[in-house]
Amino acid sequence: MCGIVGYTGSRQAQEILLQGLARLEYRGYDSAGVALEQAGSIEVVCRKGKVEALAHTLSHFDFQSHCGIGHTRWATHGRPSEANAHPHTSCAGDVAVVHNGIIENFAELKEGLIARGHQFRSETDTEVIAHLVEEALEDPSQPTLLQAVAQATEVLIGSFGLAVLWDQEPGTVVACRRDSPIVVGRDETGSYVASDIIALIEATRDVMILEDNQFAVLTPDSLQCYNQDLEPISVPLTTIDWAIDGAEKGGYPDFMLKEIHEQPRVIRDTLAGRLINGALTIDELEMTPEALNLVDRVYLIACGTSYHAALIAKNLIEAWARIPCEVEVASEFRYRDPIITPTTLVVAISQSGETADTLAALRDARVKGAHVFGITNVVGSPVARESDGVIYTKANKEIAVASTKSFLGQVVSLTLLALLLAQSKGTLTSGQIRLLFKELVDTAEQVETILSREAQVEPAARACKDATSALFIGRGMGAAISQEGALKLKEISYLHAEAYAAGEMKHGPIALIDEGFPVIAIATKSPVYEKVLSNLQEAKARGALIVAIATEGDEEIASYADQVIYIPKVRDALSPITASVPLQLLARAVALQRGCDVDQPRNLAKSVTVE
Ligand code: AGP
Repeated sequence: MCGIVGYTGSRQAQEILLQGLARLEYRGYDSAGVALEQAGSIEVVCRKGKVEALAHTLSHFDFQSHCGIGHTRWATHGRPSEANAHPHTSCAGDVAVVHNGIIENFAELKEGLIARGHQFRSETDTEVIAHLVEEALEDPSQPTLLQAVAQATEVLIGSFGLAVLWDQEPGTVVACRRDSPIVVGRDETGSYVASDIIALIEATRDVMILEDNQFAVLTPDSLQCYNQDLEPISVPLTTIDWAIDGAEKGGYPDFMLKEIHEQPRVIRDTLAGRLINGALTIDELEMTPEALNLVDRVYLIACGTSYHAALIAKNLIEAWARIPCEVEVASEFRYRDPIITPTTLVVAISQSGETADTLAALRDARVKGAHVFGITNVVGSPVARESDGVIYTKANKEIAVASTKSFLGQVVSLTLLALLLAQSKGTLTSGQIRLLFKELVDTAEQVETILSREAQVEPAARACKDATSALFIGRGMGAAISQEGALKLKEISYLHAEAYAAGEMKHGPIALIDEGFPVIAIATKSPVYEKVLSNLQEAKARGALIVAIATEGDEEIASYADQVIYIPKVRDALSPITASVPLQLLARAVALQRGCDVDQPRNLAKSVTVE
């Protein structure tokens, strides 16, 4: 969840670290700091708040450093404060560490270190690492920094991506990882390390993604990776083909709006090359049609928005492929004892590909013998590497913390998967599959139409902005869509929102409704449209302010709703793709009217690499 960057070379390190941290800020933004090595000593500067605050403070210094590490934090252990901001240092201040992940046994390690005379300055779990490295370096055998880091990490339980400096090895940065991403790369000026490729793309497109328990030693002239036994190894290069503008706002006021507008492209790219000679093909799944035909149970596991994509897909897999499909929050699945056989397919869905709960559930499913597919947006991410087959969502880098384009990419990929399963099972004819695929492709244009009428959401946003709570309702596909609508609204506008299957409203939530209470309804034309209208009546009768997402040409809805947001007609199975777009726009508009930062909402981080 935190962002790590490090550099050693001929350029000014401060500039590179700040640039990298700004790119990584979406991973956490409650404090930021750098450690710069200068004339054989290490200077640490940290600030609470965003990278901008750190940059402002650094502008008052004149550091001349060519080697340093930086960090932007999402607090786990210890509240956001300057003292808890990384880098953390050893007692003597000669070792500095930045860390992404969680050290589960830090309390026990800290107790031992204190008993041995170490003094702590922060409440973080990370600080133990600096002291452990310091202790290892005191060994009479005079270990190198690499050896000391290797020794220190041996006793750590938990997850970590680390970058470490020691003033006695000037110009060297040691990096390593376990269950937390680390990438390294070089350009003609020096060597780089980061927790995310995005921090390196300006320097190099060829990066090495470290595996668990691997180390890297960076110097101005070299970059060498090592295995767990500290033997030199060569890590294959991964070439990044993202456009650099994935990391820029491209004229939009915020990343969220830019990413919402990229969705038609995401749909097209995700579907490109999937229908060949009238048959669906997803080669990356590495599963024969015969093996797919044997699948008799599907589990979709995910968290947050990705979980909502799974809720949508369940309907499609069961309706089209006639395979029982269960959707589970990954953090629950990993601690249950689900029924898994060799013919069970588990699909782990994760935008970042590094969500700790999803990854743990995926591993557990593999151990239990399931065939595992990953659906992710990040090439080379743990979910991609640890799955038997993978579908990439082609959303390109998503920066705004609230998922939009990657969600749509997931829904489209899962729709494809449902069609593929139906093709293998023979539960849909090839004609039906071709027609559904064509309609799926057409949703790109329909989303463009919705985006061209973006202003439609403004009156509804004004009507909702002063509310303290809102209810999202729908039935069938609409019930799943409403879950995502509620999450989007609450995460970026801090307006409490709940989603309910509309038929459930009368079993409790209706008690919330009084004059002006916002009810946002997915009321598109579907087999349950009339039922939704009845539910709207019930809400209206109690004074609710009703915002309806409705199908173009539906005039009847106007007599039920105070605000109507029209979207083009699509078949019900594909309605999540179109109906979620106005909900994204609505959430953003409400958040802006409430003065919120839509790209970096409070308390959240883009990837959740802790349990
Ligand atoms: C989405 O808007 C949220 N920020 C969050 O719910 C997210 O979807 C969740 O943390 C799962 O992330 P993942 O897809 O990267 O695994």
